[in-house]
Amino acid sequence: MKLQQFSDAEKRQLIKGGLDHILVHWASNEDLAKDPKVFIAGEGCYIYDINGKRYLDSFSSLVTSICGHDRPEIKDAIVEQMEYLEFFPNYHDTFNVPLIKLAEKLAKITPGDLEVCFFVCSGSEANETAIKMARQYLWQIGQKQRYKVIARRKSYHGTTIVASWHTGFPKLWEYMEPGIPGRLFAPDVNCFECALGAEFSMCNLACLKELVGCL
Ligand SMILES: Cc1ncc(COP(=O)(O)O)c(C=O)c1O
Repeated sequence: MKLQQFSDAEKRQLIKGGLDHILVHWASNEDLAKDPKVFIAGEGCYIYDINGKRYLDSFSSLVTSICGHDRPEIKDAIVEQMEYLEFFPNYHDTFNVPLIKLAEKLAKITPGDLEVCFFVCSGSEANETAIKMARQYLWQIGQKQRYKVIARRKSYHGTTIVASWHTGFPKLWEYMEPGIPGRLFAPDVNCFECALGAEFSMCNLACLKELVGCL
């Protein structure tokens, strides 16, 4: 791991640059300005800010660094691939070698007959795509009246329009009303804080019945 050194003036300039030019996810820039952090390095499950302060990266950089930071074998693989081809999309009639190898591996380790991948860049896109695929399939087989999507309350599905419209927190979609037709919410499954006020083992799976009632 390399820790870059910054002078106080450089630190102030970096923070100003971030506040002036970046809109942050999940907060207003006013909130962000209270205690902005600039991260500069990571090692294993720790990350380091511009002052060298160490933090436990307890959410794996929002689940994007689940193998930990600064893993030599990951860096080596990235550098090796960069020597051949840094990027080329797969669309129309094109693949690239790492993409094929990853798809083959995923086909092996995913259960049952899950053998085909459609690659996207984020969870939001994955959820958007899943809904698009389902709707296109039903449309193509002549069943376009089947367009409903059941989401769970207190679920999170992403930041894009369709993904956030199907997220179980009204704050994340109420400003987008009237939204996309066909959305239904089923209760969240959380026996510890049951949305229906039932006691597990006495509840007779009431949440499942409510889910079935949505259909
Ligand atoms: C269950 C779930 N679905 C979708 C997403 C959205 O993924 P992304 O942030 O990669 O768009 C997340 C992100 O935290 C998630 O936890």
